[in-house]
Amino acid sequence: MRRIIYHGYGDPIAVLTQIDEPTPSPGDGEVLVDLAVRPVHSGDILMVTGTHDPVQRPVPPEGFTPGCEGTGIIEAVGPGVDPSRGFVPGARVCFCAIGSWRDKMVLPADTLMLVPPDVDDNLSAQLSVNPITALLITRVVLEIARNRPGGVLRLSAAEKVLTEVHEARDDAGIVILSGAGSIVAKLLAAMLREKGFTCLGTVRSQAVADALSAAIGITVVATENPDWQNQLRAAANGRTTFAALDCVGGETGNAMLELLSPGGTLLSYGALSGEPLVVRQAHLWMAGKKVSGFGMIHWTQLPYETRAADMAAATEFVQRSRHLIPLAGEFPLSEIREAVRFFTRPGRSGAVLIRS
Ligand SMILES: NC(=O)c1ccc[n+]([C@@H]2O[C@H](COP(=O)([O-])OP(=O)(O)OC[C@H]3O[C@@H](n4cnc5c(N)ncnc54)[C@H](OP(=O)(O)O)[C@@H]3O)[C@@H](O)[C@H]2O)c1
Repeated sequence: MRRIIYHGYGDPIAVLTQIDEPTPSPGDGEVLVDLAVRPVHSGDILMVTGTHDPVQRPVPPEGFTPGCEGTGIIEAVGPGVDPSRGFVPGARVCFCAIGSWRDKMVLPADTLMLVPPDVDDNLSAQLSVNPITALLITRVVLEIARNRPGGVLRLSAAEKVLTEVHEARDDAGIVILSGAGSIVAKLLAAMLREKGFTCLGTVRSQAVADALSAAIGITVVATENPDWQNQLRAAANGRTTFAALDCVGGETGNAMLELLSPGGTLLSYGALSGEPLVVRQAHLWMAGKKVSGFGMIHWTQLPYETRAADMAAATEFVQRSRHLIPLAGEFPLSEIREAVRFFTRPGRSGAVLIRS
């Protein structure tokens, strides 16, 4: 079977190679999955360049395989796997686990989710990361909204969920999103809109901003425009900007912190610019702003039943929001460098999938 591997951090085009090796067998509690499709993610690129790890641990001598999710068919099941969850040979599954840029993968059965029959491979290959990230960040925003001082959102005491936010739409506050053309940000904007929030977004170019505004129905400004911060302020129209969701970092992320209202929270969940956030401390001392982070990898440690419920919710959402996840390009596993080159091209909109 083929596996994509790198032995040292660097430009993926330069360091990624393909090896052939024997197919592994599943051990106790494990399952062998024959992968059909896996995506390229920004996180994969960060992993290969070494930017994802704050302490830059060295790459193990035997090399490392990128990829953080995928979909395929169960080929073999090891001893001790509970068949009552449906993990039997022939079952179609998806998963979130590191190392999916390969033909076949041994995984703990607990990491797998069965794929509903009406979800195709292109969608199931990308269910476990971006839709789950959008779902979980939406919950974080709801939590920030609940806790913000003087909030006017009404909560149902029984369910502890927002119930009457639509009535208070104008007071629900503004959420600003950077990298608004990314799949996660588009899903986030759609989920937050369903909760009654007004979202404002940033992208790099005016052409993308115009197309995106029309496509997803939110105000989007272009950071190539020197006046973009004032444009966002004008669009907020005096309402409280209580959350900034930043996946770009660098100058854009720093500006998002400036744009937040006092007491607001900046949530960092990505670094598309490759540049760090620089936090001017006075925002924390004087304006009471908060900076926090989100990583969906922690979700993979949650109990199976919790993750299964989240997957069901995320799947239901993306099935009716499929237009937010267009296919930008697909490549065979053997053309991984082409896939990465295509993925990193400016102006790409949509998913890049790698087929076996
Ligand atoms: N923390 C987590 O657990 C987690 C999980 C999933 C995803 N993420 C992060 O979420 C972000 C979005 O992921 P995705 O898969 O949805 O992305 P995607 O769809 O691949 O994103 C493409 C978008 O990124 C923008 N972009 C690329 N380079 C940029 C730069 N240097 N500055 C500003 N914008 C840039 C592009 O803008 P243009 O249109 O201007 O080219 C394009 O709209 C990524 O940062 C990813 O790492 C985090």
